[in-house]
Amino acid sequence: MNFRGKVALVTGASRGIGKAIARELLSNNAFVVGTSRSIEGAEEINSELSPCGGCGMVLDVSNVNSCDLLIKKLSEEKIFPDIIVNNAGITRDSLSIRMKDSDWNDVINANLSGVFYLSKRFIPHMLKSKWGRIINITSVVGSLGNIGQANYAASKAGIEAFSRVLAKEFARKGITINCVAPGFIDTDMTKSLNTNKIDALLSQIPSGRLGHVDDVAYAVSFLASSRAEYINGITLHINGGMYMN
Ligand SMILES: NC(=O)c1ccc[n+]([C@@H]2O[C@H](COP(=O)([O-])OP(=O)(O)OC[C@H]3O[C@@H](n4cnc5c(N)ncnc54)[C@H](OP(=O)(O)O)[C@@H]3O)[C@@H](O)[C@H]2O)c1
Repeated sequence: MNFRGKVALVTGASRGIGKAIARELLSNNAFVVGTSRSIEGAEEINSELSPCGGCGMVLDVSNVNSCDLLIKKLSEEKIFPDIIVNNAGITRDSLSIRMKDSDWNDVINANLSGVFYLSKRFIPHMLKSKWGRIINITSVVGSLGNIGQANYAASKAGIEAFSRVLAKEFARKGITINCVAPGFIDTDMTKSLNTNKIDALLSQIPSGRLGHVDDVAYAVSFLASSRAEYINGITLHINGGMYMN
């Protein structure tokens, strides 16, 4: 894998899976723009990425104005992403009949609408350069369902359906759009689960462990590479065998 000359945008790169993806692409010579919702987060990303070729920027994917501002700033600096990794995501769990409308909307806006806002805005550059990669981070929950995650599961399944449409629309333009669906990965998002829940999960994972952020980052890096040019519209599951399709 060598991404020399390519620019990658990784949303939600301040920690967890996004941070690992940013590091992996950077270590393979991409110029990486990593984002966070906060100025502090963006500065932290910047201090990590800039010595090796990259930068940190502020972005709230659920906010159209924030997406437009990012594009404006990138264009001013003549930075045009060839690889977009839509990784930013949130959970707001509760049983569906108790779920607040605002929790439904927050998750759909951040996880699903954000992918639409960015894809639509960055594809024109990919069309011009006749090459592009969009990799959307979904979840095993989008395929399996999970009690208490109606909003999250719907958002992730929605991204996969959206990605299949984009894959068909741009297949002849050198652009591929794929999803990577992690199972349960050891990050801040899963740290809130109690020991009983973790034990119950482990009993369903043939590998007998939670995933590592790099398990996901390596798969993203492969799908972003030229070696994956004939892979389009798929969802690659990374879950230690928890779900096999
Ligand atoms: N961990 C798992 O087990 C697991 C499993 C399946 C799928 N996933 C998916 O993998 C992705 C990363 O998960 P993670 O576990 O690494 O999560 P995490 O540790 O909670 O990190 C989430 C990242 O998303 C960013 N973010 C959240 N809302 C955002 C918004 N509205 N706009 C822009 N950035 C936003 C956060 O940035 P700031 O807070 O700095 O703004 C942070 O960098 C998510 O899409 C998640 O659904 C995770």
